[in-house]
Amino acid sequence: MKNVAAIILAAGLGTRMKSSIPKVLHKVHSRPMLELVLNALRKAGIKNKLLVISPETRSVKKAFPYLKVALQPRPLGSGDALRHTKKYFSRFKGDIIVICGDTPLINAERIKSLLAKHRKSRSSCTILTVDTDDPSGYGRIIKDDSGEVLKIVEEKDLPDYERNIKEINVGLYCFNKKDLFEHLKKIKINPKKKEYYLTDIVELLKASKKKVSSVLSDNSDEALGINSKNDLAKANDIMRKKTISKFMEQGVIVTDPDSTFIDTSAKIGKDTVIHRNTIIESGVSIGSFCEIGPFARIRPGTRIDDNAEIGNFVELVRTKIGRGTKAKHMSYLGDAHIGKGVNVGAGTITANFDGKNKNKTVIGDRAFIGVGAILIAPVRIGKGATVGAGSVVTRNKHVPAGKTVVGVPARLLKK
Ligand code: UD1
Ligand code: CA
Repeated sequence: MKNVAAIILAAGLGTRMKSSIPKVLHKVHSRPMLELVLNALRKAGIKNKLLVISPETRSVKKAFPYLKVALQPRPLGSGDALRHTKKYFSRFKGDIIVICGDTPLINAERIKSLLAKHRKSRSSCTILTVDTDDPSGYGRIIKDDSGEVLKIVEEKDLPDYERNIKEINVGLYCFNKKDLFEHLKKIKINPKKKEYYLTDIVELLKASKKKVSSVLSDNSDEALGINSKNDLAKANDIMRKKTISKFMEQGVIVTDPDSTFIDTSAKIGKDTVIHRNTIIESGVSIGSFCEIGPFARIRPGTRIDDNAEIGNFVELVRTKIGRGTKAKHMSYLGDAHIGKGVNVGAGTITANFDGKNKNKTVIGDRAFIGVGAILIAPVRIGKGATVGAGSVVTRNKHVPAGKTVVGVPARLLKK
């Protein structure tokens, strides 16, 4: 998108989070909040981005080293934060999107429609608002009888007669660059909070006869600003439900959406059943007609082919499970390459870590692993081979195809 830049505010102390980690690095659905905000900006086609950090939130720069940053030396409010970005825009002409780094659920379409309305209405400032049943904590939008925005009033400064206003400031704005920097200078310190509120700019723009517009969104979930760990849990829950719903729309059966976590980046085939209390982490790929869980944890680097069954208390990581293979009870399978039609008995463990390295276990098609087997990697179990119940197959052992091993340490069983 041309002649548009974005400023992401992340220099606040985040006091209400009660955390020593900068707020925007806290994770929503396994990703730092800031990453979600950046994704939305990227999807909206905005390339030119500037992040505002403070000495206290410097570690954000380390987590996102490719981002251009401006420093707000002291936490004197959102208005003050923006003043410190002026020099980065000396040659820029156009519109500036300002977004709070703590609104991770904002979606790209909303950013696009805000910019579109801003340009079409030739406004100096366009703000995103939402009607919500619980406006507490947010700045309220004060409009006149004809629906024109007059000002934004922060909760702390709200007179009683305005408390029932349900239209709130989401924290996403679009400004004409020139008007923004001219009017930022005029913001006065808020006497109660001793901060320069960005939101005061609306009244100042109106006073100099500039046009201020608003876009009312119907999605109050998206507006959620994360100020506390309770808000963080709310955001996680919203994202989790939304993601699971998408998987169900694609044909996955989820028996208890409330107790299930599926990462957005996972791929799952049609008619696979995900049973309750199952966690499916990033990048996992699962075929069709599988049964996963209850209580399974499928970690990154795992691929499960069609018709496989992974049951309760089974943890998989960096593991490939072939078509029709079953591991139904209490197993840990890590760095394992398991073929088709294998039966992995209850309690089987791949001992993949020797204290220094992670080693591989290879199990051929149709092998049968008895209950409670321990496979000390690196180790190979041939096609159609059998490992007796309770056996310990030691390092570098290769069980030949079709043969049986038993005991501790496992030895070849002679017919
Ligand atoms: C802010 C808005 C409020 C809106 C709400 C939406 C102001 C004054 N109020 O309130 O109208 O309804 O967001 O979630 O903006 N920041 C800095 N430097 C500072 C202070 C804050 O960069 O010195 C950044 C924060 O990192 C954050 C954003 O500005 O990303 C908003 O600050 P925050 O303290 O969270 O404001 P809210 O009280 O949530
Ligand atoms: Ca906030």
